[in-house]
Amino acid sequence: MYRTHTCGELRATHSGNQVTLAGWVQTVRKFGAITFVDLRDRYGITQLLFGEDLNKEFDENPLGREFVLQATGTVNERSNKNPNIPTGDIEINVTSFKILNKSAVPPFTIQDDTDGGDDLRMKYRFLDLRRNAVKRNLELRYAVNRAARNYLHHQGFMDIETPFLIKSTPEGARDFVVPSRMNPGQFYALPQSPQTFKQLLMVSGYDRYYQIVKCFRDEDLRADRQPEFTQIDCEMAFVEQEDILSMFEGLIKSVFKEVKNIDYTEAVERMTWEDAMWNFGNDKPDIRFGMKLLNLKKPASVYTSKQGQSALIDGADFKVFDEAETVIAIAVPGCSEYSRKQTDELTEWVKRPQIGMKGLVFIKCNTDGTYKSSVDKFYSEEKLKAIADAADAKAGDLVLILAGAEERTRKAVSELRLEMGKRLGLRKDDEFRLLWVLDFPLFEYDEEGNRWVARHHPFTSPKPSQIETMINNNPVIENAAEYLNHPYANIKANAYDMVLNGNEIGGGSIRIYQRELQEKMFAALGMDEEEQLHKFGFLLGAFEYGAPPHGGIAFGFDRLCAILGGSESIRDFIAFPKNNSGRDVMLDAPATIDEKQFEELQIKLNLK
Ligand code: AMO
Repeated sequence: MYRTHTCGELRATHSGNQVTLAGWVQTVRKFGAITFVDLRDRYGITQLLFGEDLNKEFDENPLGREFVLQATGTVNERSNKNPNIPTGDIEINVTSFKILNKSAVPPFTIQDDTDGGDDLRMKYRFLDLRRNAVKRNLELRYAVNRAARNYLHHQGFMDIETPFLIKSTPEGARDFVVPSRMNPGQFYALPQSPQTFKQLLMVSGYDRYYQIVKCFRDEDLRADRQPEFTQIDCEMAFVEQEDILSMFEGLIKSVFKEVKNIDYTEAVERMTWEDAMWNFGNDKPDIRFGMKLLNLKKPASVYTSKQGQSALIDGADFKVFDEAETVIAIAVPGCSEYSRKQTDELTEWVKRPQIGMKGLVFIKCNTDGTYKSSVDKFYSEEKLKAIADAADAKAGDLVLILAGAEERTRKAVSELRLEMGKRLGLRKDDEFRLLWVLDFPLFEYDEEGNRWVARHHPFTSPKPSQIETMINNNPVIENAAEYLNHPYANIKANAYDMVLNGNEIGGGSIRIYQRELQEKMFAALGMDEEEQLHKFGFLLGAFEYGAPPHGGIAFGFDRLCAILGGSESIRDFIAFPKNNSGRDVMLDAPATIDEKQFEELQIKLNLK
């Protein structure tokens, strides 16, 4: 037997017991004739005391950091207790020990505050994983996994595995492909998600399916994106949108409770996509704080129900506003006393290439009731007050206004709002606010191809009241400049996203389940019959054999873990992640393959 206890287990109540521990040497400290060694394993750290009688043996077998050590001895209550660790009341008086394996000097210190940089820690990820900080993240990930499985199991969901070597699934990214030796010249695609399989499982009658499953997408990477990531993928038959929303609110609330002991009893807020875009400038608003956008120009026609408040800025002969497509303001609480230096810094912030604005207009709503702005030349105090009031600014607030091209300005204001929220401490890691964003557009306009693409994926159903609009209108866009006037621009989908603290943690839809409508959808996306049959013949065929109404959702498991763990980066919550260039620096993958493998695959490289 290698050990009787773990390194996190022993307490004062074990005093006098004879025990054997095994673990890694964290530190060795010599005090005259005695030596203290901190022994670490997954469960904690225990202090070992090597007395004078072991000195000779000790000198002959010197210990180094990360050596694997087995030590036997007696548990002893310490006189000098360490209240910072659970085993701090005791130490082991070692009577015998054995070095089970040596270790080279690790390239960085294996402790909470390590001296290792990102690259080094990724290269030696197996050592990084020994650190508490990383271990805690993986423990949290496992807790989320357990909680999700528990909930879904109790709701009657069945975990069914689906294949990885498949044909392309359209989730909007590029596929990773795998050549087939047995079918020369042909390739499998790795699934971007199990989307079509889970729909087929509904046709097969498995009316509650789930899977915690790897998905593969060849897309540009960011802190919240990995080329292979994990989804909690779910599908249900005989459901409407409302059934899905309540079932999966339940899932996330149950994860909150089990993992963070948070009672999220209130109903999850809901917002239409239009309102999200209009009030927050993006489709995944962080609703932990207000600072809603004031749209000061007539909106683009996709926001049919909205009217901009241009009367507030018109007629002042201020060219920047007059000539801009979009003018948007936000009221930042309590910042009216910003100095020149501070407003200059904010102006520089919005001018950075990532934000790309030309400048920033501000109105200070002073506490004495006066208004001062960077556009005093054009707007009277009365007009400034009217703008500030419309932006919901109070005395003491600072109104920030951006003007420019529609999309860029909206994005910029949205970023500025998040930045100001962060600076003012309004985005707290330990506050969790969920939001359903509903009624997404069914189609998105693809400028390059002058055609429609699916906003979510092509299996998403339109709102029932708009099916006719889809069927009865020709998808062709005659005049690219006026694509917003095409009837398709206004068709809304039966699709929903779940947003947590400004992050999209899940998305799904009620699906099309009739062959004819699915064919119409494919046709609307520019697929002729041949292409439809080639790509999705299996699904169209399945829809002819009694496909039930169905819908589902998939959660970004890594993202959910990262947010619950208070981190922006999902990498910290993945045991062996890739870096931003999609490389595994530990394995040094991707890599070239042997000439023999190319021969077997009958593939010849012809790199450009
Ligand atoms: P979607 O493409 O919205 O939907 O993906 C679902 C969720 O997965 C997460 N996610 C990612 N996480 C890490 N890295 C990535 N590269 C990445 N891409 C997506 C997001 C996202 O909300 N088949 C549909 C679901 C459905 O319709 O049921 C789908 O995959 O958190």
